[in-house]
Amino acid sequence: MKSVPSLGGQQQDYFVAAMVAYQDGVRSHATMRDVAKAFSIRDFKNFAAWYAEGVPPVPAPTDDTTPAIAERCAACHGIEGRRPQTAATPVLAGQKTPYLEQTLREYRDGTRKHGIMQPQAEGLADEEIVALAGYFASRPGLFVK
Ligand code: HEC
Repeated sequence: MKSVPSLGGQQQDYFVAAMVAYQDGVRSHATMRDVAKAFSIRDFKNFAAWYAEGVPPVPAPTDDTTPAIAERCAACHGIEGRRPQTAATPVLAGQKTPYLEQTLREYRDGTRKHGIMQPQAEGLADEEIVALAGYFASRPGLFVK
């Protein structure tokens, strides 16, 4: 499904935090809330470890193609969205375009709440969201597992 994120290669702490946020209702999504409520933190950690395995080697960064608007994202998500600076920051490289677009709109509109990402998405125009999503989705990184 196009708006379901790819999880293969995702950061483990981010994965666990996202599942806890669904469980607590901080991230609201009816299906994910029901899924998350069926499991414990220990289960989330096991899933996270499984998804983090088998990451294919990624080619050297080609950040010369980074559009200006995506440059500031690298401060936290790493070059090309591949090497996040903290364990709680997700990999963006290779994520599905529709998921990235939807997520950025949700942060901008406040339907997905996060103290760091909401201000990042705040003034983004629709065309900028489309450009950012297309750029990060086109980088080698996450995969469907
Ligand atoms: C100051 C650090 C920082 C900067 C700069 C930043 N981000 Fe983030 N980003 C985060 C953190 C932390 C999260 C995890 C938020 C959460 O758990 O909801 C995140 C989450 C995201 C997500 C959600 C991914 C997912 O798997 O659900 C997207 C998409 C995203 N950022 C895109 C961007 C883009 C595009 C930019 C640049 C315009 C950007 N971010 C700039 C820290 C940052």
